[in-house]
Amino acid sequence: MVRRNIERVLKYMINKIEIEKKLSQIIYPNFTKNIVEFGFVKDIIVKDTSCDIKIAIPSSSTKISYQIKTEIESILGAIGCKDIKVDISQPKEILESSSKGKNVLPSISSFLMVSSGKGGVGKSTTTVNLAVSLAQQGKRVGILDADIYGPNIPRMMGIEGVQPTFLGRNIKPIYAHNIQVMSIGSLIDRGASLIWKGAMVTQAIEQLLEDILWDELDILLFDMPPGTGDAQLTLAQSLPVTVGVCVTTPQKVALDDTIRSMDMFNQLNIPIAGIVENMSGFVCPDSGKEYNIFGKGTTQPLADNYQTQILGEIPIESTIREGGDSGLPITVLAPNCETSKRYKDIANKLWKEIERVTSLGGVDNESIQPTIF
Ligand SMILES: Nc1ncnc2c1ncn2[C@@H]1O[C@H](COP(=O)(O)OP(=O)(O)OP(=O)(O)O)[C@@H](O)[C@H]1O
Ligand SMILES: [Mg+2]
Repeated sequence: MVRRNIERVLKYMINKIEIEKKLSQIIYPNFTKNIVEFGFVKDIIVKDTSCDIKIAIPSSSTKISYQIKTEIESILGAIGCKDIKVDISQPKEILESSSKGKNVLPSISSFLMVSSGKGGVGKSTTTVNLAVSLAQQGKRVGILDADIYGPNIPRMMGIEGVQPTFLGRNIKPIYAHNIQVMSIGSLIDRGASLIWKGAMVTQAIEQLLEDILWDELDILLFDMPPGTGDAQLTLAQSLPVTVGVCVTTPQKVALDDTIRSMDMFNQLNIPIAGIVENMSGFVCPDSGKEYNIFGKGTTQPLADNYQTQILGEIPIESTIREGGDSGLPITVLAPNCETSKRYKDIANKLWKEIERVTSLGGVDNESIQPTIF
């Protein structure tokens, strides 16, 4: 009797573990992590061949729920589960974020998320130069480096090694180029950030949002890590992100990652202000001739498809790279050069979009369904 009971418990345990393993094959739509890693699987009850799964996701999209449910049914059906019940709930407070969510930092009027599915396309470079351009136009600007894994903002803003001032448990941002800046890179030892994982990323970002003493700001820019993961999700749930900007490069291999990033904005209810096409052509300094090293023509159809605009095109230019390495962004070093003018133009368009979205009280992206690309 005892033995049979133990066997039953053991069978149940194995099934539960097996099922969790199977569920971890299901990637949360438009993100790079699976539903188990994200902590969305709340309960698994197994009885003989029947299975009851409880899921909580931070999206009100019926399309997303349907997709997850179908995938669960198919994956568990394949291992012999017969009666599969999937209950997907959406916590109410999460449904109201992001652009329409409650502002827990009322001294800051708007929030901009600079993101891209792909690494190394120029998110940090774009963040820094847009921040400088906005500050040059008289806006009160802050940058929060949300790239926990590889914070580059201190170097790009020329504040590497500068220690912030602590007031009790609070931290005052560091001023650089007339911008308030805070980065996890200014708070922890170099290299330590590389070992951060899932829940720690969420906690670190929540802590940063609580502890930093920003002055009054017209806009706070978030420089995001590449991809679509915990950092994006945490920010979108913690704050009303007013708009998102997607940075991309023109080569076709970047397209899939960019699409994922655009879908993520939609899913998190972050209105898309537009796309910045970075590394868009190279103007030869000797001949003045333009070479489209990474190709041309992929960004406009993408923008059309998501009913948004190309905010601007930034060429490959050595001064941009040098500016990133030296902590003197091109917009500070050469504010009147052609590229700085382009950043200024992007900042103008962006601000108009922020004003438009703010006047509407946020945008409900549920109504925007991207067509198949
Ligand atoms: N338009 C450009 N012209 C020349 N160099 C550029 C340009 N844009 C970015 N770079 C350089 O390319 C490198 C990667 O840029 P950046 O760090 O901004 O990318 P990222 O998308 O933030 O990367 P990550 O995904 O690692 O955060 C940097 O050395 C930067 O100076
Ligand atoms: Mg970066």
